[in-house]
Amino acid sequence: MDQEPALRIRNLVAGYAHLDILQDVSLDVRKGEFVALLGPNGAGKSTLLKTLYGMTTHKAGSINWRGQEMGGRKPKQFLAAGFGYVPQGRCNFPLMTVDENLEMASYTISGGDVAGERKHAYDLFPILHTRRNEFAGNMSGGEQQLLEMAMAVLRRPEILLVDEPSVGLSPQAITLVFNELKRLHQGGRTILLVEQNTRKAMEAAERAVVLRLGKVIWDSPASEVSHTDLGELFMTGRVLERSAGHAVGIH
Ligand SMILES: Nc1ncnc2c1ncn2[C@@H]1O[C@H](COP(=O)(O)OP(=O)(O)O)[C@@H](O)[C@H]1O
Ligand SMILES: [Mg+2]
Repeated sequence: MDQEPALRIRNLVAGYAHLDILQDVSLDVRKGEFVALLGPNGAGKSTLLKTLYGMTTHKAGSINWRGQEMGGRKPKQFLAAGFGYVPQGRCNFPLMTVDENLEMASYTISGGDVAGERKHAYDLFPILHTRRNEFAGNMSGGEQQLLEMAMAVLRRPEILLVDEPSVGLSPQAITLVFNELKRLHQGGRTILLVEQNTRKAMEAAERAVVLRLGKVIWDSPASEVSHTDLGELFMTGRVLERSAGHAVGIH
């Protein structure tokens, strides 16, 4: 893993129209790193991922991606620069087959190699190949989540932004999805994962970043934050003295 951050976010302020949700967010993600972005409901986690895909209003601050300034750019520019986004929720096209969904995902940039990208998706997720003629909406929740991930990774993004992939899934499906995320990470992808299932997220990720009220309040190796710490951070924005060394912006 490179030591230089591939993604360097500095003093980012972003939101919707006149509403600032992210307030002065600074965060580095290194190439090949797996970062879990945690925090209570409404903290701004989804807003941060959307901002890293050009889907919110950028107000101030910098999103530097491998030396290139991305703040305020459009989704297709983030896509072209190597960002992949897996939004929260299920398949975009439930009445289309798996094959057709992958084809649709491939059309998002003109000049895409539809056959090659679909093959890449099937190589990464062989289970989807066995279901290729099934309507996406008829598949299990876990399989649909894999399809969502496949629709993002077929463009071979360097960084994958994944929003709450475990929501609504059975424990078995959650394990399946997390195993696939770990495999994608082992294959060299950089991953920024938003997750409410902190236990699973902390098992998979190398680093834990906690967002609360639009601010980063914690940033440490995943092994250095306990579930008790996370509970306290979510509820109060603070941790007890014993592990307060990594607190960010807490006075
Ligand atoms: N499209 C939107 N327009 C206006 N406010 C929004 C929109 N989406 C989310 N918000 C607000 O932004 C805040 C953060 O939401 P969100 O980023 O979804 O939080 P999280 O993902 O951490 O639960 C919330 O107060 C939410 O109501
Ligand atoms: Mg969210």
